[in-house]
Amino acid sequence: MKKIAILAQKGGVGKTTLCLNLAIAAKLDRKKSAVIDMDPQKSSSEWAKTRSQQWPQIRATSISFLPKMLSVLNELKTHFVFIDTLPKDDDLTAMAAAKEADIIIIPVGKSILDVRGIAPTVKIALAANKPTFFVLNRFPYGTARKDKVIKVLKSKYPNIAIAPICLIERPTYDASLEHGLGVIEFKPKSHAASDIKTLYRYLLKQMKECG
Ligand SMILES: Nc1ncnc2c1ncn2[C@@H]1O[C@H](COP(=O)(O)OP(=O)(O)O)[C@@H](O)[C@H]1O
Ligand SMILES: [Mg+2]
Repeated sequence: MKKIAILAQKGGVGKTTLCLNLAIAAKLDRKKSAVIDMDPQKSSSEWAKTRSQQWPQIRATSISFLPKMLSVLNELKTHFVFIDTLPKDDDLTAMAAAKEADIIIIPVGKSILDVRGIAPTVKIALAANKPTFFVLNRFPYGTARKDKVIKVLKSKYPNIAIAPICLIERPTYDASLEHGLGVIEFKPKSHAASDIKTLYRYLLKQMKECG
């Protein structure tokens, strides 16, 4: 079982969106996938109530029950577990998720404030010493903003990879979540679905590289 922690101590950058959509991409790739919801707001768990499918499994938990929850999912022969974390400053949850993870994803928003705001999260990922990559999310069309953010990330964090796909701000994400679906299920031929599939393939590649 591979564990992927999605960390950003900032709300609205897409932790929950990425967890759910990557877990669905894994499910459609015939992998048993799960999301562990560590956010007290329980966005993933609320979304799960609108679905009837067994997979991806969505399990809410807290720091103290995280190891137990992971062993339950392991017994269920789960392939991939995505750990969804908090939208606000909470080092302990992010640290617990990072400690358990095989790989860490840090979503990064488009503004310079978003880029500056990831510093504490990067610190936690580096302290955990786990393979980590950034995903640019909610970006406008075009290359200007993307190029600017990539330049800053590369100069500040030269050892952290950046996913080759930049996720554009698209209404399909919200619309699919409202229907209890991921973008690949909701609009399989959409740009958003294609982006998530590309991101999922990149995740597989990164996991393979780190063994
Ligand atoms: N690429 C995107 N395009 C459009 N909306 C997005 C995108 N990524 C996330 N969102 C939306 O932004 C909001 C916040 O995302 P969410 O995943 O809840 O962030 P977090 O979990 O980091 O707080 C949600 O309404 C979500 O649907
Ligand atoms: Mg969230």
